[in-house]
Amino acid sequence: SAILAVFVFGGLGAGLAVGLFSQAAPPTVQIGGPFTLTDKNGAKFSDTDLRGKPFTVFFGFTHCPEVCPTTLWEMSEALKALGPDADKLRILFISVDPTRDTPEVLSRYIQSFDERILGLTGTEQEIDAVGKAYRAYWEKVPTEDGDYTMNHTASIFMMDGKGQFVGTIAYEEQADIRLAKLKRLIAAS
Ligand code: NI
Repeated sequence: SAILAVFVFGGLGAGLAVGLFSQAAPPTVQIGGPFTLTDKNGAKFSDTDLRGKPFTVFFGFTHCPEVCPTTLWEMSEALKALGPDADKLRILFISVDPTRDTPEVLSRYIQSFDERILGLTGTEQEIDAVGKAYRAYWEKVPTEDGDYTMNHTASIFMMDGKGQFVGTIAYEEQADIRLAKLKRLIAAS
């Protein structure tokens, strides 16, 4: 699913690819924007709650067999490595499977990782809107047992304190590069 996600993501267009993968070139496509979602306590959470602090956005789902747990574990390790600076940053995990990912399910799931990670869900319309704003991709895929899984964008979006897109962290990016990117994000905000 990660490989598919990377290919689909890369297929969005040369302009976006340049913005995402080159540090020098500014993004030519707008990424990010206003959203309203629900946090793991069932409270409303919107982009205005993020003002002034840089944040990262990752789209996934709690039933994910590999990409999501790996990413959340790696981000938890990064938060640990950042020490006190971790509190200058917010890490968002937005569910693309709101049917199964209720606030209660998200709350339990995040307990396996750094609990500073903000698990967010919402109505299907709210999730569609935020996904569109971040140019994220996902797709429901039926499984043989009659259940379903989701293919989804595996990149993490980095946003500065003004909510402006500054770059991405790739799936399975080396830990030291991931940490350097997050330090730069904090320093620039
Ligand atoms: Ni996943």
